[in-house]
Amino acid sequence: MNPLSSPGTRRAFVGTTVAAGATLALAACGDGSSAAPNNVPSAPPEPVGAGTVVATTAELAVGTRLAVSAVRTRGEEAGQEAGFLLFRPNRHTVLAYTAICTHQGCAVGAKAPEGEAFYCSCHGSYFQPEDGKAVAGPARGALERFAAQIKGEQVLLFI
Ligand code: FES
Repeated sequence: MNPLSSPGTRRAFVGTTVAAGATLALAACGDGSSAAPNNVPSAPPEPVGAGTVVATTAELAVGTRLAVSAVRTRGEEAGQEAGFLLFRPNRHTVLAYTAICTHQGCAVGAKAPEGEAFYCSCHGSYFQPEDGKAVAGPARGALERFAAQIKGEQVLLFI
């Protein structure tokens, strides 16, 4: 399935898209997301609700990263579209993060000019796909994590 051709709640986007006016909640909120108040990555949160299909396993092969957008279904941002980053470290696991940079709120992309990392092109911050930790550039905080699962051939995000 091509996420660019899918209607409504999901589609892939290019990592250079700017998330205007986005703010980062810095406290765990119990809605399937968690945020690190500093650069200490948090554990992946537990899934809550039915989840939103954001990709297929074919689109997110083992060892790859993908940027997607989806409509939030819970919390204060319910109904709003937001960007998310996915990393599939093995066949059965997918890790998910906000695409909002912890530096000044630009959109973080799934690909980096060097190495295997998430990358914010606004000021050159790099984030580890394994835990969202900021590892280079001006960003000092880890990316907020979200629960994600692989179910059959679908990648689900709990947002
Ligand atoms: S907003 Fe991402 S590095 Fe500055």
